[in-house]
Amino acid sequence: MDFFPFLLSFIFIILHLSGQRVVQGEVDIQRHHHHHKEPITKLFVFGDSYADTGNINSSLVPSRNEPYGVTFPGKPSGRFSDGRVLTDYIAKYLKVKSPASYTVRKHLAPHHLKNGMNFAFGGTGVFETLNQGPNMTTQISFFEKAIEDKVLTTSNIRKSVALVSIAGNDYTFYNFKNGSIQGLPSFISSVVNQTIKNVIRIKELGVKKVIISNLQPVGCLPSETVSSSFKECNETSNNLLVAYHNTLLTEAVTKLNQQIKYHSSSPFIVLDLYDSFMSVLKNPSTYNIKNELEPCCVGVSSNYFCGMVVEKVKKYTVCENPKSAFFWDLGHPTDAGWRAVYTRLRITNALKQIHDH
Ligand SMILES: *[C@@H]1O[C@H](CO)[C@@H](O)[C@H](O)[C@H]1NC(C)=O
Ligand SMILES: *[C@@H]1O[C@H](CO)[C@@H](O)[C@H](O)[C@H]1NC(C)=O
Ligand SMILES: *[C@@H]1O[C@H](CO)[C@@H](O)[C@H](O)[C@H]1NC(C)=O
Ligand SMILES: *[C@@H]1O[C@H](CO)[C@@H](O)[C@H](O)[C@H]1NC(C)=O
Ligand SMILES: *[C@@H]1O[C@H](CO)[C@@H](O)[C@H](O)[C@H]1NC(C)=O
Repeated sequence: MDFFPFLLSFIFIILHLSGQRVVQGEVDIQRHHHHHKEPITKLFVFGDSYADTGNINSSLVPSRNEPYGVTFPGKPSGRFSDGRVLTDYIAKYLKVKSPASYTVRKHLAPHHLKNGMNFAFGGTGVFETLNQGPNMTTQISFFEKAIEDKVLTTSNIRKSVALVSIAGNDYTFYNFKNGSIQGLPSFISSVVNQTIKNVIRIKELGVKKVIISNLQPVGCLPSETVSSSFKECNETSNNLLVAYHNTLLTEAVTKLNQQIKYHSSSPFIVLDLYDSFMSVLKNPSTYNIKNELEPCCVGVSSNYFCGMVVEKVKKYTVCENPKSAFFWDLGHPTDAGWRAVYTRLRITNALKQIHDH
């Protein structure tokens, strides 16, 4: 028993010593950064509707119809939200403007291309999905071609960051095709493996860092909680699908960062959307969210969805205050929801690695 105080003081000494070292270290880091910290000048974006800011130009897509965009920019912009999406908040963090959408590049003056480019298309995945949009492999080829054609100048690409969003459309399609539960682990593994191939390719095109989102708690999306009247997350989805995907992704990215060719620069960063969504859903009031599971915009019956109009009659309802709801529609956060996620990402220092060498 006597050795307990000894242990305590021992721990104290270690803390004390290492504390000094930490303080010393911080001073060094600050000095180091003062000379070498380069600002990020561009953001390149790949993936799905969590990241798309307007690539899909078809009025058949909900995001091109009211009430999408009602909070920002005030009319439908192609974003799957009442306002901003993940891309906009990551751009804010990097202090660059949200980059132009790939499909409108030809209509834009050169200065609109200086913040990078967004190649993400809502509904897509790394493989084939229900949506006909270009999969991530094709999106990366658009990026490659834009560099070749000098639409993008390569000189600044090494000061740029890429954001890769994979929110689960591959799995929705797997379910749609009646893929078996037994086959799911192997399918998850192939999705992660394809993701890794994709991010290596993006890195090799010259960007400094690649941010890869992990899967949000899919079982808490309104599309899954509708069966419990938006009361309870589907823990089976969270535990089977999401946990396995995220474990494999983190393992694979950790391994990738350790490759000698990256000179311990850790160019790949997993963005923990799972933690940030969960933190908000568990403590909504901390983030000024009152309505955490019920979506703000819903179809008036199961045949209808947010944004649907039949013979000029709106077949949806919108909540009174989108700013206090986390979810906008059956699969996407509101502007306020993404803001809350962004707040959590900042609190946890999730993106501090971006400026590391
Ligand atoms: C979208 O497509 C329509 C018709 O094809 C065209 O008139 C419009 O300019 C396009 N909008 C954008 C932003 O590209
Ligand atoms: C992506 O789409 C292209 C064009 O449809 C297709 O040829 C390719 O096989 C797809 N890639 C993957 C990984 O599914
Ligand atoms: C999946 O199974 C359901 C019910 O058995 C069936 O109605 C549907 O056509 C199947 N879908 C596909 C893509 O095979
Ligand atoms: C994914 O890659 C890992 C590591 O290379 C490999 O062991 C695994 O079999 C791959 N998964 C699939 C489904 O091909
Ligand atoms: C939860 O999800 C699993 C598969 O992901 C599904 O089989 C089950 O029916 C869902 N449960 C509810 C209550 O919707």
